[in-house]
Amino acid sequence: MSDEGSPLAGRRVVVGVSGSIAAYKAVSLVRLLAERGAVVDVAMTTAATAFVTPLTFASLTHRPVVSEVMALDPDEQIAHVELAEGADAIVLAPATANLLAELAAGLAGNAVTAMALASRAPVIVAPAMDAGMWTHPATLRNVETLRGFGHIIVEPEVGALASGLTGVGRLAESDTIVAAVESLFAHAGELEGLHVVVSAGGTREPIDPVRFLGNRSSGKMGVAIAEAARDRGATVTLVAGSMSVPAPRGVTAVEATTAAAMRTAVLRSAPSADILVMAAAVADFAPKRTSNSKIKRDGAGLQIDLVANPDIVAEVGEMADGVRPFLIGFAAETDDLEANALSKLRDKGLDLIVGNRVGGPFDAIGSEDNKVTVFGAEGPLTDWPMLPKRQVAERLWDLIVDRYRAARPPAGSRRSTRARRR
Ligand code: C5P
Repeated sequence: MSDEGSPLAGRRVVVGVSGSIAAYKAVSLVRLLAERGAVVDVAMTTAATAFVTPLTFASLTHRPVVSEVMALDPDEQIAHVELAEGADAIVLAPATANLLAELAAGLAGNAVTAMALASRAPVIVAPAMDAGMWTHPATLRNVETLRGFGHIIVEPEVGALASGLTGVGRLAESDTIVAAVESLFAHAGELEGLHVVVSAGGTREPIDPVRFLGNRSSGKMGVAIAEAARDRGATVTLVAGSMSVPAPRGVTAVEATTAAAMRTAVLRSAPSADILVMAAAVADFAPKRTSNSKIKRDGAGLQIDLVANPDIVAEVGEMADGVRPFLIGFAAETDDLEANALSKLRDKGLDLIVGNRVGGPFDAIGSEDNKVTVFGAEGPLTDWPMLPKRQVAERLWDLIVDRYRAARPPAGSRRSTRARRR
């Protein structure tokens, strides 16, 4: 067996199988997970049992398979709830178009969806379906919704499909799915005991009760950073500006849609934070006055006086040593990325700055992917390709953890200094 050193050893993984011809591939997936040392349970939809029998999975896992939503387990407990609560990770493979729709809608009519809805464990979804179904706007929307829940999607591959056609929709290889599960645990506990504050999204500066000055920030990068910190064991506060995605579960979300509200929220949480990642796109200017009533069109133009907003991260950067969290800022630049990022790092008192280009042929704002360069005081530290934002977040945490540990070795940590002070 090859479980030596696998981050899966001893982890409880629930595999949810739905009714696709690819259900037979879940057999090798379950076997691989078990070989890596995971304790594997299987839940099945009724349709899945038409492709593979529960006996097949039970023989591999030596554990009862749950295929009915109303079933009790051998201890007379509701079986799908027991699975949900005990799971360290849930893997839905294969996930049919129907299963994706049910999950996105929060339905719980079968053992797989009921188990997934009841659980707070991280969820990996590996879809498999006909290419037409995969590219249908309804499925694309459902996948987007699931990403918004924080679920990790292992994209289907291109290949021969059950329909006889070739296209995208084939279940990812078992190795790929297992690697996604392993990466959930590879850094588990790394940020245990640390308070991480992440700001995300854009701010909206009100002009009148219906209009605002804002920007296109979606919050996706900040949310991915918050999720990755959560999954590494941190206690996470998300200071959420205006976002097109929901705040992930398992983090404390504080809504702050104006720069002023964001300043209050960040300054309130910063003293107890070990690490602050300021990913929000804070408006640099706000209207000098906000009209209480909607400004009327009178045929003439409108002049709005703007005042500079306080630089929130720079204020945190000025905090005294021992109180100031380890500080990461962002720089979205149309030109001279390196020079601008480095001067912002210095001026704002940051430990690291994440630079990305905006406004060009590839614009990270609002997109699923991002290409960033991270800078320290000594210059660029990374040469990463374009990656999904969650992967950018994972690499970012690898780097932050290294730098944080080097700057603040545990023996002389601020946490212990603070504890002594109390
Ligand atoms: O100066 P610029 O807006 O490009 O700086 C970007 C960085 O500074 C980001 O980390 C952003 O969250 C932060 N910032 C801030 N307060 C502002 C403007 C930007 O904290 N008023």
